[in-house]
Amino acid sequence: MSKILVTGGLGFIGSHTVVELQNEGYDVVIIDDLSNSSENVLDGITAITGKTPVFEKLDLKDKAGVEAFFAKHNDVKGVIHFAASKAVGESVQEPLLYYENNIGTLVYILKELKKLPSASFIFSSSCTVYGQADELPITENAPVKQAESPYGNTKQIGEEIIKDTCKVTPSLKAIALRYFNPVGAHESVEIGELPIGVPQNLVPFITQTAIGLREELSVFGDDYPTPDGTCIRDYIHVVDLAKAHVVALKRLLDGKNKENYETFNLGTGKGSSVLEVVQAFERVSGEKLKYKIVGRREGDIISAYADTNKANNELGWKTELTLDDAMRSAWNWEKKVRGK
Ligand SMILES: NC(=O)c1ccc[n+]([C@@H]2O[C@H](COP(=O)([O-])OP(=O)(O)OC[C@H]3O[C@@H](n4cnc5c(N)ncnc54)[C@H](O)[C@@H]3O)[C@@H](O)[C@H]2O)c1
Repeated sequence: MSKILVTGGLGFIGSHTVVELQNEGYDVVIIDDLSNSSENVLDGITAITGKTPVFEKLDLKDKAGVEAFFAKHNDVKGVIHFAASKAVGESVQEPLLYYENNIGTLVYILKELKKLPSASFIFSSSCTVYGQADELPITENAPVKQAESPYGNTKQIGEEIIKDTCKVTPSLKAIALRYFNPVGAHESVEIGELPIGVPQNLVPFITQTAIGLREELSVFGDDYPTPDGTCIRDYIHVVDLAKAHVVALKRLLDGKNKENYETFNLGTGKGSSVLEVVQAFERVSGEKLKYKIVGRREGDIISAYADTNKANNELGWKTELTLDDAMRSAWNWEKKVRGK
């Protein structure tokens, strides 16, 4: 089976994708610098799949290190590139850190892939590229809007870099996957999301509040033009998302792609408000969540959910798990991590 490099493979989405790749028989090599993850994640992957992936601890900002990796692993057939810094607020304070880690590393990897006789590349992009879309649900043809943050900009620039490179590199095929809001954990609770510090995302904030780590959840604004006044997002179970990576990779490896650079939205197609997510959590956990409504948060868009037609029909993938499944697994994971 093909050897696949997964950068950031010990992170939240990366670890779940490594599990699905190994379940499909791929040989996985992980690069991670552990800047936002832990080596223990390897144990979780091994417990689920019965196989320990090869792990190379490497900071992808180390250009010579990236070159040395590809010299050693010149039989890599595909790369799924998750490694990046992802805290939107931090990116506003430290833009150069984000441009270096999210753009510099991408360039180093693409330079190496250009040298291979053929290569398939999957890029972690984001629905942030659409900003507040004019039409909902959001199709892949919706215009890319001015990024709200340096983090969002790195995804837009990253996509442009890949597109430009593919244009002049017939041996390179790439897919940018635009994720909506990944949530949940593997049902085995061997792996899940491990935010360092105060969670930036809603679901880990909810579970940490319910377990007693946070005082209460702040809901930013209930006066948006939505049915209950809170913001609407498309929450996708991380296991469904992980499976989409395997499908996208296979599309490229099998030469089923229509162009050598493609984009797909990955979401459920269903928007859920913040309060609906809270209700889903309370329903599946049996816990009452402490929350308060506060003012709007700068930079939040009102509503975003995916048009899934292209992913369903062209990629041949669709979600199987629900928001309740995601909240249940996220809660079970939180309890396991805290020893409860
Ligand atoms: N989680 C989300 O809500 C979301 C949404 C849209 C897009 N994305 C993108 O998906 C990708 C994965 O996100 P995630 O939530 O799993 O994040 P994560 O932080 O859990 O995983 C990223 C992993 O990359 C590693 N890493 C970072 N910089 C590195 C470097 N220079 N060298 C080697 N390893 C490095 C980290 O240690 C971490 O294990 C990122 O590119 C992110 O921007 C995430």
